[in-house]
Amino acid sequence: MPKHFLSLADIDASDLRAILDEAHRIKKARIGKAKGHLDVDAPFSGETLALIFEKSSTRTRFSFDMAMQQLGGRSITATSSDMQIGRGETIEDTAKVLSRFVDGIMLRANSHQTLTALAQNSDVPVINGLTDYNHPCQIMADLQTLEERGGELSDMTLTWVGDGNNVAVSFVNAAAKFGYKLRISTPDGYGVNAQTISAAQNAGAKIDLIADPIKACDNTDVVIADTFVSMGDEDAEKRLTELMSHQVTEALMNAAAKDAIFLHCLPAHRGEEVTAAVIDGPQSAVFDEAENRLHAQKAIIRWCLGT
Ligand code: CP
Ligand code: NVA
Repeated sequence: MPKHFLSLADIDASDLRAILDEAHRIKKARIGKAKGHLDVDAPFSGETLALIFEKSSTRTRFSFDMAMQQLGGRSITATSSDMQIGRGETIEDTAKVLSRFVDGIMLRANSHQTLTALAQNSDVPVINGLTDYNHPCQIMADLQTLEERGGELSDMTLTWVGDGNNVAVSFVNAAAKFGYKLRISTPDGYGVNAQTISAAQNAGAKIDLIADPIKACDNTDVVIADTFVSMGDEDAEKRLTELMSHQVTEALMNAAAKDAIFLHCLPAHRGEEVTAAVIDGPQSAVFDEAENRLHAQKAIIRWCLGT
């Protein structure tokens, strides 16, 4: 069985801990190196990762491509509309064909079922580059950012404010694995999938649902926002109106702990899910978070492909 990276809920806590340790090591080992230079230990000479996108991407696309270059391998990027899946070829056949050409596949999919069907039919590791359900690579980079700035995850309280979307799901999945406390503050109708929350709680996650965002942010160590309109959401106007009660403002940051960190996976929409004062302010870690996609994903690729 290839080692797929599809959901943080399915991977052992010890493996996730090892991936995060590796991400820190990899980042430190590159200090002072030009972006085009190989890592000190670049293990993937001759190996190729396919990067397939059913929807837009800036960070995921460039970070995976540079990660493979710095690891000594290469990547091939295609959007689904460039490929025959865009004309109706099945994902199962696509998986079997790509397995004959490349050493691993990263997929950003509209539907999580597409990702799982790809993985079930692939002979090579499959990495989740975001689906409508979750975004595990993002959370590994986010946790790397928090450890760099804040120390022990198991001592931290993280507060998600806004839409209970795909990024929120991966924070829920990771809570049981890394031991942080997670508060989730969403308006009615925008909560994280209840089954995902109860599965995480059964696995030991400490999760509190607190509708009032000010109460949810009280003395928290980390405040997290994401777009109110994710890729594929169709009711943009309604969402923007109904989620506005959960915009991350300076008032929320003032309710949080004194040195609380603000996270956002980007792309951001200033004046919607977060004010410019917060995302461009001193507590924001969003560009370190974006950079850490590169380092965390190298550790994920190394785990999947084996080094
Ligand atoms: N955060 C993130 O996944 O960004 P992209 O959509 O630009 O890849
Ligand atoms: N929730 C957002 C994340 C983008 C990286 C989306 O799915 O569009």
